[in-house]
Parts: sequence; C-alpha cells; structure tokens
Amino acid sequence: MADQQLLLGQTLHYHADPFVAGVADAAVHQRRGGVLIGDGKIIEVGDGDTLRAQYPQARVHDYGDGLITAGFVDAHVHYPQTAIIASWGKRLIDWLNTYTFPEEMRFSDAEYAAEVADRYFDLTLQNGTTTTCSYCTIHPESVNAFFQKAQARGLRALAGKTCMDRNAPDGLRDTAQSAYDDSRALLSRWHGVDRLSYVITPRFSPTSTPEQLEALGALWAEHPDCLMQTHLSEQVDEVEWVHDLFPEARDYLDTYERFGLLGPGAVFGHAIHLTGRERGRLKDSGASIVHCPTSNTFIGSGLFDLDGLMSEGQRIGLATDTGGGSSFSMLRTMAAAYEIAQLRGRALHPAELYWLATQGAARSLRADDKIGNIGKGLEADLIVIDLASTPAISQRTARAEDIWQALFPTIMMGDDRAIRAVWVGGTPR
Ligand code: GUN
Ligand code: ZN
Repeated sequence: MADQQLLLGQTLHYHADPFVAGVADAAVHQRRGGVLIGDGKIIEVGDGDTLRAQYPQARVHDYGDGLITAGFVDAHVHYPQTAIIASWGKRLIDWLNTYTFPEEMRFSDAEYAAEVADRYFDLTLQNGTTTTCSYCTIHPESVNAFFQKAQARGLRALAGKTCMDRNAPDGLRDTAQSAYDDSRALLSRWHGVDRLSYVITPRFSPTSTPEQLEALGALWAEHPDCLMQTHLSEQVDEVEWVHDLFPEARDYLDTYERFGLLGPGAVFGHAIHLTGRERGRLKDSGASIVHCPTSNTFIGSGLFDLDGLMSEGQRIGLATDTGGGSSFSMLRTMAAAYEIAQLRGRALHPAELYWLATQGAARSLRADDKIGNIGKGLEADLIVIDLASTPAISQRTARAEDIWQALFPTIMMGDDRAIRAVWVGGTPR
C-alpha cells in the first residue's frame, strides 16, 4: 500500500483496436484522469479526483494538462546502427554494404557494444520509448550488451543475435551450426529473465543459406514461446535477388515458410512489396508485420499499404527501424506513417496513429497482455506528453477543440521535448 503512486493529468487509453471498433468506441480520453500504480503495475485507471479520494495514501504526481499514456513500443530496431543513423545517399543493399556492415563489425568488442547500448537506451527513453525489439549483430557480445543495459534500466526489451552465413563480409558471418548454437545459448541465458525476451533472428534470406534458415527453424520449433523476427520484401531489387537465390521458392515469404519460419510469433519488418499469396499466408499464419515508415522513405523502399493490410485483418505494429529509419522518435515515426498513408489516399486518425505506436506495436510483439496500454494489471510503463512543447506546437494547440486536435500537432511536429516524464515499471526515470 505504502508504495502506491497516483499520476494525475489527461489520460488516453484504449478499450479496443480503433481500426476495428472505430475511434469513438476504441479510445478513452479523460480530461482529468488518474492512473494508480504499485509494485510496478497499473492498479486502476479512471477519474482523477475519484481515485484521489479513494486512495488518499497514494503519493500524487500531478502533471496538470500533461497527457498520460502508455510508453511507446518500437517493434523493429537495430541498436547497433545507432551511430550510423542518417547516413547519406544509398539504397538498401548498398546502404548495408557501405554503412551498416562495417559498423556492425565493431560489435565483436564487448566494450564498444556496451557503450552503444547505453547511448541507444538513453536516446530511446528520452523519446518516450519504453520497449524496443532489436536486432543485434552476429556477435553474442552485442546481445549481452543489449540485455545487460536494458536489465539495468528495468526495461521490458526484446532482441536476438542477427544470423548471417552468406553475402556478408569476412568477420560478419557465422555458420548454420554456430548460429544455432550461439542463439540457443543466448536464449537460455536471457529469455524470460526479468523483463527480457530472446527473439530468434535470421537477418533476411539473402544473408542466410537454406541450411541456416533450416537450423533456425528447428531452434524455433524447440522454443515456440520465443518470437522470430526477420525482414520481408522491403525493396524491389531485394525481392528480385531473393528470387535468384531461392529459385525453388514460390515467393519471398516462402523462403521462410519452407524452413518453419512462419507462424504466430513471426515478426516481419517492412513487407511492402507483397504478392496475394504472401498476404494470405501472413494473415492465416497469425504472423505480424511491422511498418517502418521513416526507413521506407529514407532508404527509398516504397509506400506501405497500411489501409489495405489493416482491412484484411493483418496484425501490424509500428517501428523506427533505427538506423535505416531516420529517427529515434515514435512521434516522428507516426508522422511519417501519416504522410505515407496520405500518399495512398487514407488520412490516419491521431487515435489510430497513437494506437499503432503503443498497443499495436505491443500486439505485433505479442506483448499486449503486458505493455502498450493503460489498464489494470498491465506493467506501469507510462509517459507524460507535453502538448505544447514548442512555440510552433503550442500556438497550434491553442486552437484545438478536442484532444485529437490537441494531440495531432505533437504527432506531426513533436520530438523529445514533448516527453515530459517517463515511468518504467512503476519508477520515474
Ligand atoms: N534488411 C536486412 N538488413 C537490414 C537492415 O539492417 N536494415 C533494413 N532497413 N533492412 C534490412
Ligand atoms: Zn530492419
């Protein structure tokens, strides 16, 4: 009882998926709301004054007009690419060879990995992101660094060793066997420890032999409670390359499916250039798709069909794809998702954008029973948004007639200055 805390402010949470139930039925905004937390969990969400009267012993944190929401969930990132974010002038395969692979080579050094992991978590927390699902490098040291730094901050975090045994430079290749052995050892060490989850991670089929994909499929079959993450159909050239490398496969998704790498708990980044068969199999298998809009524009990948895929009932999350993506901020990421959807003729509602960055992303990681929303029993990962964080935003918000008009300028123009407070597992950062 003694450690109960009551956060007061505006609150925003979800009863349902706004893409299914509609915004009016899904989103709940309270002008003067409250969130009662204790033991790292959310105990109650409701009217602020009522909760205050009901729990007089709780320590009060009054954020006034601040908007209390779930912390952001970033469903697809590469933390080892932190230092090469915003590297100029290349498309995917060139960008990997020129910028990414040389940087990832450095993560054989445990000290360097620890330094970048520290920097990465500082940046994401500053931007209000309380959970990320990361690719590491081929080096076990890079996975240990990620989990150690997440654990020290009390974060719920997911990651895996990125496996590659071909089409990558010397020093950045494992083998089918070592990928299996190292992944299994890391999984045993980290999966389910505190708030950490191991994710089986073949980088993408161009950098894995069929033997490696088969080995990782076998590992996943032995540990079906883990997620499996990889990339799918990001750029047209990449899709053509995959057809050349796997002539017997029906399509890109089939290069995973035939090795047991499709099912509930499979998380596919990008998925822009899909065939009808791939869309059908993604849906039927219960796999997730992660939309990475700043990456898709930055590397020139294409315009993700969010509206079409949502209408089919696909499970979709949102992510920065740091450092192919050009930002650590899920606000900027929501803005890019809005812009891409506009280019395809659909204006996403702020409630839909915010859902994608919180509960939708958590759902894509099959963690929505723990994070991504404000609700009884969920983990107390919360942020407080300042809806007037810059002069440009506040002069626009002054005209707002409802919460959505008040929130949208921050989605479109906000950055880390809009993040007024971050709570991780019931503790303020
Ligand atoms: N496909 C394979 N590896 C990567 C990566 O590191 N970033 C992006 N954006 N796409 C990839
Ligand atoms: Zn990626």
